[in-house]
Amino acid sequence: MINKIVILGSGNLAFHFCKAACIAGVEISQIFSRNLETASQLANMAGCDFTNDINKIDENADTFLFAMTDEANLSIVKKLKPYPDKTLLHTAGSLSMNIFENITENYGVFYPFQTFSRNSKIDFSKLPLCIEASNKQTLNALIQLSERLRCNYYIINEEQRQVIHLSGVFGCNFMNHCISLAEKILEDNKIDKNIIKALLKQSFEKVIENGAFASQTGPAVRRDYEIMEKHAQFLSKDELLLEIYKLMSKSIEETHFKK
Ligand SMILES: NC(=O)c1ccc[n+]([C@@H]2O[C@H](COP(=O)([O-])OP(=O)(O)OC[C@H]3O[C@@H](n4cnc5c(N)ncnc54)[C@H](OP(=O)(O)O)[C@@H]3O)[C@@H](O)[C@H]2O)c1
Repeated sequence: MINKIVILGSGNLAFHFCKAACIAGVEISQIFSRNLETASQLANMAGCDFTNDINKIDENADTFLFAMTDEANLSIVKKLKPYPDKTLLHTAGSLSMNIFENITENYGVFYPFQTFSRNSKIDFSKLPLCIEASNKQTLNALIQLSERLRCNYYIINEEQRQVIHLSGVFGCNFMNHCISLAEKILEDNKIDKNIIKALLKQSFEKVIENGAFASQTGPAVRRDYEIMEKHAQFLSKDELLLEIYKLMSKSIEETHFKK
């Protein structure tokens, strides 16, 4: 059972996990973080202690949840002594759970397939959660934790998790960046960037309802080369943006007109 958790990290995911755990009545016993300001905010929310000293990690906890960058997770793991009676988990999309194998036999992954920013609202009850564990006992503990947090859990192996993570990079991270490029094009040309909001809302609704393939519109899927050439001329001063435009258009065309 996972009853008493130390969260390592106090960034976006740690913040939302901490909040969801408090709501679900899952005890957070300590926040470990190099950032004492955000650590104290999370500790305040959970009513627990916080530290930036790995030698003061709460040994009464049964679970350590690593929610830092991959590099930081690896560097902190190297500093830990063996904890055979503890469960060690991380929350990363592309990091092996075996990073914990020298610390305990009970380890796993708690990877929510969602985007977390501190100031955004997250409903854990709608969250797809990818779980993976080193043994049956840890898997059962992760299932119980997922159920307490009311997540939709999926038992996913490392290879599948990496694929899911990669699809998230395209579907979320790249899409978000495309929108920020769109906003910049508007701003650079002194047009209110909010004009795009209705288009974004309609596009997301359409994709969720009909799927991305059926929802594609625009010059590339129409093979409107005259407009594409005009856009290329407009972007000619920005080499990178022009390259992105051409690559995206090529990808759309190849997707829709496969031989
Ligand atoms: N955010 C998401 O949408 C999301 C979704 C699914 C999974 N995840 C996974 O969750 C984990 C955390 O992501 P996040 O978005 O919460 O990241 P984040 O907001 O950038 O927070 C990272 C945390 O790691 C700490 N950290 C960074 N470098 C460090 C170092 N060298 N030594 C010690 N601590 C260090 C940061 O401290 P400082 O505050 O001092 O920088 C912060 O507490 C990652 O494995 C990520 O893949 C994130």
